[in-house]
Amino acid sequence: MSTWANLGLQDSASPLMEQLIFFHDHALLILVMITVLVGYLMFMLFFNNYVNRFLLHGQLIEMIWTILPAIILLFIAFPSLRLLYLLDEINEPSVTLKSIGHQWYWSYEYSDFNNIEFDSYMIPTNELSTDGFRLLDVDNRIVLPMNSQIRILVTAADVIHSWTIPALGVKVDGTPGRLNQTNFFMNRPGLFYGQCSEICGANHSFMPIVIESVPINYFIKWISNN
Ligand code: CUA
Repeated sequence: MSTWANLGLQDSASPLMEQLIFFHDHALLILVMITVLVGYLMFMLFFNNYVNRFLLHGQLIEMIWTILPAIILLFIAFPSLRLLYLLDEINEPSVTLKSIGHQWYWSYEYSDFNNIEFDSYMIPTNELSTDGFRLLDVDNRIVLPMNSQIRILVTAADVIHSWTIPALGVKVDGTPGRLNQTNFFMNRPGLFYGQCSEICGANHSFMPIVIESVPINYFIKWISNN
């Protein structure tokens, strides 16, 4: 979960989010190098007084400063494509969870296990317990096993919503009439918070997502008590 003064990415809780953070840092490094180089060149251009009266064209330098940036961009493009395909890969999921966006709450279906289904509403501030997180906690949390491949099917019942969990690197739109798919693997136990991220109406900010990541035997216990 994001807390005070955290303006960067949240700590990852899945291997894919870890890769996303690595890619972010890699892209940022290239960006800083370009900014410094261009900044230096512009600075020097402003303050130099030399004039070459016979300069008409420079084929060679133009070749260099056209091809070189293109090559540099490939160092962003290829890792980006690698991640894109990695995120899309489905790896024999052991649990499938269907989440349906509504105005303004999520509902969930565990169709693998006697069709458990429930709604998940945000807890209003005046009903919040002292250890609860305002605008982020829900009445019915999703419980999912850690160290397992999990598939999420996302759809919506009214308008477009988006099922987004930053710590897991998951962000999938729920669109009426469509069934989108994503997957993740949680490598630690804990609570992972998310929010809808499609502007879906007046209470868009008030349909959070909470995942309880638990050991698999706890999950089996939870699922058999439901
Ligand atoms: Cu649902 Cu924004």
